[in-house]
Amino acid sequence: MPLQDADFEFIRGLVHRESGIALGEEKGYLVKSRLAPLIAEKFQTFRSLVQHMRNKPNDPIKHQIIDLMTTNESWFFRDLWPFECMRDFVFPQLAIKKGADHNINIWSAACSTGQEPYSLAMTVRESANSIGGWNTKILATDISPTVLEQAKIGKFTKADTFRGLTAAQQTRFFTPEGNNLVASEDIRSLIEFKQVNLSKTWPRIPQLDVVFLRNVLIYFDMPTKEEIIRKAVRLMNPGAFLFLGGGESMVNIQTDLVPVSYKQNQFYQRAV
Ligand SMILES: C[S@@+](CC[C@H](N)C(=O)[O-])C[C@H]1O[C@@H](n2cnc3c(N)ncnc32)[C@H](O)[C@@H]1O
Repeated sequence: MPLQDADFEFIRGLVHRESGIALGEEKGYLVKSRLAPLIAEKFQTFRSLVQHMRNKPNDPIKHQIIDLMTTNESWFFRDLWPFECMRDFVFPQLAIKKGADHNINIWSAACSTGQEPYSLAMTVRESANSIGGWNTKILATDISPTVLEQAKIGKFTKADTFRGLTAAQQTRFFTPEGNNLVASEDIRSLIEFKQVNLSKTWPRIPQLDVVFLRNVLIYFDMPTKEEIIRKAVRLMNPGAFLFLGGGESMVNIQTDLVPVSYKQNQFYQRAV
């Protein structure tokens, strides 16, 4: 199915305006493959999709386009160290710093199909020695309603769960259902799922102690990245922590966050 340059430019502009996702000039192949199901189902050609969107710029199809253009790969305990760091460093520090205030708010800001917030919930449960009995809440958000729906259901294939979970974690936190494993009520009860587009106005989000903003900034251009980080920092309590993904950094972004090292990895803390 051919995609003319002008139609690619139109779709690229729409995706950037609606989601902040910056598609490089070489990403025509990605638009073609990701939107192929939508074209096959409803439009026959890219030209007629673009024509439709020009005539009806607010048609809900635009949300479907954004949904299809997001990259949702995720796995449990991705990179491992951020979760070990939460258990062995962040929670013990918060336990001291918060004194009598036994509330912790965590935000998984691009949660995809849920592996990240469920990994955080398991980490909370595995940190009973520091924050056992505390009121810990995890807000899990994403732009894509499709992945949020999957995340809420909390049903993972065994292949999904083998990628990142120990046998003990599978037994403690999941229930088998056919060929799948379903997240237990115990970890599910810590998480609230909500749709949030990081590149638009955010709904009210409570003050935060930890932000996971991982493997999503890579899709944005510098001004969008900078704006999102600034907004996230404003929501962070003094002394709160920010974790970015492996290829993401704060280079050239001025904030009052200071870098912190954990086993040769870097994350950030808001000045106390
Ligand atoms: C590669 S996944 C990362 C998932 C998880 N944080 C991790 O590290 O495994 C990127 C996620 O960012 C989401 N995303 C992309 N643009 C977004 C936006 N403007 N607002 C909120 N989420 C967005 C996508 O829908 C996708 O689920």
